Amino acid sequence: MKKIEFFKHNIGDEEIERLNKVLRSLFITTGDEVATFEQDLAEYLDLSHTVGVTSGTAAMHLALLAAGIGSGDEVITTPLTFIGTANSILMAGATPVLADVEKSTGNINPEAVENAVTSHTKAILPVHLYGQMCDMEKIRKIADKHDLAIIEDAAHSLEGKWNGKNSGHWGDYACFSFYATKNITSGEGGAISVKSEEKYELLKKLRLHGFDKTAADRYTGYFKQYDVDILGWKYNMDNIHAAILIEQLKKIDVMYTRRSEIYTKYHDAFSKIEGIELHTIRPEARHAFHLITILVDPEIRDGALTELQNRGIGVSINFHPLHLMTYYREKYGYKHGMFPISEEIGARTISLPFYPELKNEEIEYITECVKDIVRGS
Ligand SMILES: Cc1ncc(COP(=O)(O)O)c(C=O)c1O
Repeated sequence: MKKIEFFKHNIGDEEIERLNKVLRSLFITTGDEVATFEQDLAEYLDLSHTVGVTSGTAAMHLALLAAGIGSGDEVITTPLTFIGTANSILMAGATPVLADVEKSTGNINPEAVENAVTSHTKAILPVHLYGQMCDMEKIRKIADKHDLAIIEDAAHSLEGKWNGKNSGHWGDYACFSFYATKNITSGEGGAISVKSEEKYELLKKLRLHGFDKTAADRYTGYFKQYDVDILGWKYNMDNIHAAILIEQLKKIDVMYTRRSEIYTKYHDAFSKIEGIELHTIRPEARHAFHLITILVDPEIRDGALTELQNRGIGVSINFHPLHLMTYYREKYGYKHGMFPISEEIGARTISLPFYPELKNEEIEYITECVKDIVRGS
């Protein structure tokens, strides 16, 4: 039986050729390729600045620090996300405060956000789940009312828009991931978009130990002394990852067109099937089509995961809500029932293969298998 992988990257000859050039050059750490990727990404997002880092988690950690968030501060986020979202808040020394999600989209519910605001709240960290942006008008209003920063977790929504504006326009910062399964990838990687000039300069220091010069700055021409006046981290993107990302970004529109075709095929196959639900796409959203997830009866979900794998289909769960992870339960005393909608989605969701290389016959095979399993045959 042929396996249909859960995810396949599409790094091709263009990426490999560019990577080869970098590997044969002097500078393989942060240098010109990183600067080029940062500019290309900013242009794609229609923003002035992005900062390349080593992961989406590092991007959120640094954005929180740049926003001045630390010990004693609270940051509101969703339980229905990858653990890195909440971990980044802990890494910044602050406390994650969870607000439940909307049933129809899985995105953080603005009403729950408003109810979670206290005198310690300093920021909102909305996650644009699966590629659909959160209701950013409502979230922006709450942030303005309480004077909070917005740091968008845009790991899923590079191509996403809300009312015509992409990630980074609604928030003060947007954080992207180029992890192996993301819509563009270099294996690992991340970036922060930032609106403020001052915070842009700060982020470049924060990503590299607080140095006032990069390695390229220091070694180009005569050796230059450097100074360190703040504590920074070691999160700088290197030219190796940037080379791959420059070429990946050139293909983004072509890959997006194929992703949206695949989404339509899944949608058409499942939309009228009893026992299978899909999240709603709101009219304000341009979905980035990062993940395709279906919702089934929680009684059959785990069996369906096994059966799909028995039939050669790679699957995943996005996400098991983070408040039910042992570390968070023990640290904050979270229990079942505290965020019921996230828990319901977490117990019912199945993620299916979703990448441009997926063939139409494979999609048909997957959808037929899912329908069979849900009907109990
Ligand atoms: C929603 C979400 N946020 C953040 C991240 C973290 O990104 P990274 O793995 O690059 O740290 C991921 C996944 O990788 C994610 O799915």
